[in-house]
Amino acid sequence: MNMNAPYSWTEIVALVLISNLCLSTSYQRTETRPQVCMLCSGSVRNHTTVDRFCSWSAGRIQGRCCLRNDSISDPERIIGLDLSNCSLTHVENLEGASTVVMIDLSLNPIVNISDTVFQGFGDLNFMILPPHAVCPGGNTSWEKVELKEGNLLCEGQKNMCNQTGQPSVYCPENSLCAPYGPGCYECGCAEDYYGYKCLRQGNFPALVVFGPLAAATVVISFLLWVTQRRKAKSL
Ligand SMILES: *[C@@H]1O[C@H](CO)[C@@H](O)[C@H](O)[C@H]1NC(C)=O
Ligand SMILES: *[C@@H]1O[C@H](CO)[C@@H](O)[C@H](O)[C@H]1NC(C)=O
Ligand SMILES: *[C@@H]1O[C@H](CO)[C@@H](O)[C@H](O)[C@H]1NC(C)=O
Ligand SMILES: *[C@@H]1O[C@H](CO)[C@@H](O)[C@H](O)[C@H]1NC(C)=O
Ligand SMILES: *[C@@H]1O[C@H](CO)[C@@H](O)[C@H](O)[C@H]1NC(C)=O
Ligand SMILES: *[C@@H]1O[C@H](CO)[C@@H](O)[C@H](O)[C@H]1NC(C)=O
Repeated sequence: MNMNAPYSWTEIVALVLISNLCLSTSYQRTETRPQVCMLCSGSVRNHTTVDRFCSWSAGRIQGRCCLRNDSISDPERIIGLDLSNCSLTHVENLEGASTVVMIDLSLNPIVNISDTVFQGFGDLNFMILPPHAVCPGGNTSWEKVELKEGNLLCEGQKNMCNQTGQPSVYCPENSLCAPYGPGCYECGCAEDYYGYKCLRQGNFPALVVFGPLAAATVVISFLLWVTQRRKAKSL
């Protein structure tokens, strides 16, 4: 085997597979005031969970959003989003809301929540969904999932990097595991490494993987198998 070839076709295919499981949006974050606050008319409803959370956090309500800045120099960010009773059937794009802590999607005829919509939503810690919906990333991505007062509550986002106590199993060498929203984790290359499995030196976007963990494990196992096989061959 030509040792200069950076990676084989099998590995490239595997990499593309992995990347597509969790479309990376990490380097597309926008600072502009997102349209998400105007996704439907009205503003955060009075006396709801998001409204109370906003008052408690000393936030400012604009449209359907609760905004706050941690310091004068920081731009305001969305911490709460009340999209309840918005006639939403699909939830596909909440661009600009990746800093949100609490989302209310109750009272919507939701039929589909895209798997990728909450990628990068690392602070998301409380969701209110219609009863028949599924918490993003599945029940295993949350500390607690319960049906309460006719709504489904997803509480406490789990850190996928800690799931089985062995994060390094999932991220390749020279990379660090970081949470990347419900059911997602990101294998960011360690400093000075980039590219496939962080085998190259330099600076390059990270590899993002989406759970359910089982699916990711299958792909990673496949990757490990490919590498092991290659190692065995080159001996
Ligand atoms: C919400 O509360 C504010 C002040 O407490 C009041 O001015 C406003 O009319 C209320 N909005 C609705 C929709 O009840
Ligand atoms: C956030 O900071 C800006 C100044 O940069 C200020 O005008 C605004 O009132 C602040 N918002 C909150 C909610 O403190
Ligand atoms: C939902 O919105 C409709 C109008 O768009 C309104 O008539 C209804 O009272 C709202 N329901 C709740 C629970 O706020
Ligand atoms: C939900 O949307 C995804 C793509 O975002 C699609 O693959 C899937 O078939 C949809 N499911 C339903 C029940 O519409
Ligand atoms: C997730 O948890 C909810 C609430 O406990 C439950 O109703 C639902 O069936 C669970 N879903 C799965 C796939 O286990
Ligand atoms: C994940 O692991 C870190 C360090 O081992 C620990 O500080 C953190 O509390 C863990 N988080 C969870 C959600 O278990």
